[in-house]
This record gives sequence, C-alpha cells and structure tokens, in this order.
Amino acid sequence: MKKAKKEKPSEFSLEELFARYLGRMNDPTSSAYLKGPCGDEMEFYLVVKEGIIEEVKFYTEGCEYTRACGALTAHLAWKKSIDDALWISPRLIKQSLKGLPEEHKHCAILAVSALYRAIADYLLKD
Ligand code: FES
Repeated sequence: MKKAKKEKPSEFSLEELFARYLGRMNDPTSSAYLKGPCGDEMEFYLVVKEGIIEEVKFYTEGCEYTRACGALTAHLAWKKSIDDALWISPRLIKQSLKGLPEEHKHCAILAVSALYRAIADYLLKD
C-alpha cells in the first residue's frame, strides 16, 4: 500500500481541524455511528482508495472534548493506510490533546471506536 505525506497535528488549531473534518459525507466508502455511555454520539465517514483513507469526516453534537477528540482522530487517520489508522488509540488522542480531563477520557474512546467501526465497515465490504 502506498503512503502519503501528512502534516503533524500540532500544525493546526482545533478550529482549523473542525473546519476541515467536522461534517457529514454524502457518498462515503464506509461509515459508522456509535453512542457512548454518556449519551453522546459520534459518526465517522471514510473515503478509502487502494487501502488509503483519502477523505475523512466526523460528526457529533457532543461536548467540546468530544468534538476535539473526533477532530484529532480524523486528522490522524487522514491519508493513512487502513493498517496504520488502526494504530490510532485513545491513549494517543489523550496524549496529543494536552489537558483532556480524566472524566472526559471516554470522549477519546468514543472517537477512536467510531473510527475503528468505520474501518471495519470498509473491510467487511472489501
Ligand atoms: Fe461523553 Fe464527550 S462527554 S463523549
């Protein structure tokens, strides 16, 4: 599988990540919906070509931490191979989002789990 160049998350503000990744997609290759134990919901949409995530969007009406975790998860998945995207973990999101309160750790789990489900949706169609 080919690899593409990718910017580092720190090169973008959260507002830029929201502008880039927050929203729904009309014709994704795969998608997923997940509801967390707190009641917040997370949707992930992927366009995958030759095993590379070419486009990624997420949607949530959850709290600011939920949105931040979704945006960072989407950014880390963008232009990654499916195999590499499966290395994104809630711990990585928590470490990258400095200041994520302990009581919002589940926001990172919700975002990453929704990404995994979207990847599973793609793999099961393949
Ligand atoms: Fe529940 Fe963020 S408060 S996912």
